[in-house]
Amino acid sequence: MRTPGRLEQTDDWDELAAWWLVEVDDPAYREEVVPLFLEVFRPRSGQVLLDLGCGDGRIGERVAAQGVRVVGVDINVELVRVASGRHPVLLKRLPDLACVRDAAVDGAYAVLALEHIDDSACFFAETARVTRAGGSLTIVINHPVYTAPRSGPVIDQTDGELLWRFGRYLSPGKSYEPAGDQTIEFRHRPIGTLLTQAAAAGWSIEAAVEQGMGSRAASRDPILAKHRDIPHLMALRWRRSSPSAETRSVTRRPGSS
Ligand SMILES: C[S@@+](CC[C@H](N)C(=O)[O-])C[C@H]1O[C@@H](n2cnc3c(N)ncnc32)[C@H](O)[C@@H]1O
Repeated sequence: MRTPGRLEQTDDWDELAAWWLVEVDDPAYREEVVPLFLEVFRPRSGQVLLDLGCGDGRIGERVAAQGVRVVGVDINVELVRVASGRHPVLLKRLPDLACVRDAAVDGAYAVLALEHIDDSACFFAETARVTRAGGSLTIVINHPVYTAPRSGPVIDQTDGELLWRFGRYLSPGKSYEPAGDQTIEFRHRPIGTLLTQAAAAGWSIEAAVEQGMGSRAASRDPILAKHRDIPHLMALRWRRSSPSAETRSVTRRPGSS
């Protein structure tokens, strides 16, 4: 594995790093996102795990405290600089993991990162390639019900009931949310797309947990306060099955589609 170097590509997170460093301190992140991740994540001491889209390394520091050797990967120079004070980190644009050898690690995890990565099929293929048989992949994502373009809450004017508009849930697309004085882009994929891509890459599903809006996030907004039964976050864990000869021969590399 290489240490941080020059980044050739545009860093889409250049303008968002400062926002994220504030957002990650929000109690909603600490009390909703982190517990969901820890509920689904099953690390073992001594494992080598990639933290994909590691941000400032805060989650990685926590995982490393459990005896795991964490190597972060992130696109943003500023966040990589902060994370490098917590664990080793690579400055890379995902899903490219070309600098990591086949079956070199015990697995990977990505917290609130997959929805910012362009090619999710390549993400699953690359994580499967670098993970030894029996290794794991854990992700926490904004629930696809939330990331669908034109999705959102609708109040029924007749009785005040909160309904959810699915928007363009069924097709992959992009949606946008305010992020401080910037806008953050989400790549939307229906759940079926994610599960099919993961299975095609050799990942066997072990756990899937959907979570509604927690009280912390809801306390910011009276509409959100009624969201408890609408999915907001999703965590998934997969196990790497042994690659068959066929799977090995079709493993995708970045840019191959
Ligand atoms: C919402 S933050 C989550 C950070 C961290 N996982 C956490 O939970 O604290 C998303 C992170 O993904 C990184 N990121 C976005 N697109 C990326 C890409 N294509 N390759 C690598 N990192 C990316 C951003 O720089 C940012 O650190």
